[in-house]
Amino acid sequence: MRYVIGNWKANKNFDEVRAWLQTFFNSYRSRSEVSVILCPPYPFISYLYEKLVSIENVFIGAQAISSIESGSYTGEVTAKSLAGMICYTIIGHSERRIVFKETNDDQIQKTLQAKKYGIEPIYCVRDEKDLIPENIKFVSYEPVYSIGTGQNESLEKILEMKKVLNLSKDTVFLYGGSVNEENLKEYTASDEVNGFIIGGASLDVNQFLRIVNSL
Ligand code: PGA
Repeated sequence: MRYVIGNWKANKNFDEVRAWLQTFFNSYRSRSEVSVILCPPYPFISYLYEKLVSIENVFIGAQAISSIESGSYTGEVTAKSLAGMICYTIIGHSERRIVFKETNDDQIQKTLQAKKYGIEPIYCVRDEKDLIPENIKFVSYEPVYSIGTGQNESLEKILEMKKVLNLSKDTVFLYGGSVNEENLKEYTASDEVNGFIIGGASLDVNQFLRIVNSL
């Protein structure tokens, strides 16, 4: 199984989301060996869920999740409120850690919240110094200098980091950082990378579909 995670980050308005989805809907052909996980901004999660709930091998994910369960926390989006619509959530993305100053402790609380509500964490690490909580199934290696820069990491370096991370054999190991339809082949040559978090290249639905179809 390979996983393609489209992380739209803070991009797209409703018209753009509708257009993206329309093309995806018309052109996507499900294959049992590829899982597609779409992570739109929060306001579009329920819309994508309604549209895609019956499409095989397509799932909705959140880009982040609150460390808090519920209560008087204006603006927070919790696992409790997303449960039932999303199957996955990204946790620990470097943009959360760096821009929003989230700590390792925050990531642990978020992981607990996600799991409590049946949401599978996709846990991002910048390197081996970002500690991975226990019982994490999906780990994504995301070197900061590769994210959004066009400087994708070489397969060799990715596999070196995989060794250093010393993951259990059941871990689904992902890579994220400037993956696009051109450089994808380098990674798919190896069985050791089980999927990708795709930011910039997921915004264009046609490129995203070409990536999905080439796996
Ligand atoms: P990018 O983002 O593909 O735009 O580099 C990847 C990520 O943030 O994981």
